[in-house]
Amino acid sequence: MIEFQDVTLAYNSNRVLDRVSFTAQFWDRLAFLGGSGEGKTTILKLLLALVRPDSGRIMIDGEDITRLSESQLRPIRRKFTIVFQEGALFDSLSVRENVAYCMREQGALSEEDIDEEVRNLLRKVGIEGAIDLMPEELSGGMQRRAAIARSMAAGEPRMMLYDEPTTGLDPLTAENIGDLISELSAGEPPDRRGSIIVTHDVTAAARVSERFLYLKNGRITFDGDLPGLLNTDDEELKKFIDALFLLR
Ligand SMILES: Nc1ncnc2c1ncn2[C@@H]1O[C@H](COP(=O)(O)OP(=O)(O)OP(=O)(O)O)[C@@H](O)[C@H]1O
Ligand SMILES: [Mg+2]
Repeated sequence: MIEFQDVTLAYNSNRVLDRVSFTAQFWDRLAFLGGSGEGKTTILKLLLALVRPDSGRIMIDGEDITRLSESQLRPIRRKFTIVFQEGALFDSLSVRENVAYCMREQGALSEEDIDEEVRNLLRKVGIEGAIDLMPEELSGGMQRRAAIARSMAAGEPRMMLYDEPTTGLDPLTAENIGDLISELSAGEPPDRRGSIIVTHDVTAAARVSERFLYLKNGRITFDGDLPGLLNTDDEELKKFIDALFLLR
C-alpha cells in the first residue's frame, strides 16, 4: 500500500504541495491530473524518494520512506519503475544498448540472457524490429515504447509510473501508447501491476485509468472515478477538462 499523509513540499519559498494525502494499492490504476507546474512530476519524485517532503509522511507497505537512507531505499524503489517525462533514452546508444544498460549494471545476467531479455521486452512493447536503430532514428511513439521497455529492464515492478507518456504525440500514436500502458497493467486486482500516470492529457488518462486525482494549488481537489470527473461541479476542474476532453 502507498500512503501520502499530509505531505507538504516547497522548493525554496515556492510551495508546491500543501498537506496532500491519499492512499493507493499497488494494483490501482491512477491518474494525477493538473496544469503545468501544479506538482505532478513532484508526486512521482516523492514516491521514489528522489525528493523528500518538508513535512508529512510517505508510507510504502507500512514503512515511512521519508527517513530512509539511499541503501535502505533500494528495495523500495525496485517495487516501481518510472518512465520519465522526456523518455530520456541515451542518444549515443542503440535501442538494444539502451534496454540492456540496466541489466548489465545489475551484473546478474550473461550476455546471451541479456540479449534474449532485451528482445522479449522490445517484443512486448511492439518495436522488436527497431532493436538496432539509434534513438534519433525512431519516431516519437517508438521512443516512448523504447523508454517503457528500458524502464522494465530493471526487474518486475509492482507498479509502473509514467510522466506525461502521451504528451507531444499525435492522437493515434497516443492511443497506441495508451493501449500499451493498459496491457502492461492488465488483469484483475490484486494480481496485476498497477500504474500511475501523471499528465495533463485527460483523454489519455481516461483511457488507461480508473481513478483520477486533480492537483490544484498544492491540494488534491478531486479524487474519484471517470463519471465523477465528467460530472464534476468544480468550475475550475470543468474548465480543465473542457479544454482537453473532446466532449461529445
Ligand atoms: N528542482 C526544483 N527546484 C526548484 N523548483 C522546482 C524544482 N522542481 C520543480 N520545481 C517547481 O515546482 C513546481 C512543480 O513542478 P512539477 O515539475 O512537479 O510540475 P508538473 O505538474 O509536473 O508540471 P508540468 O506539467 O509542466 O510537467 C513548478 O513550479 C516548478 O517550477
Ligand atoms: Mg511534470
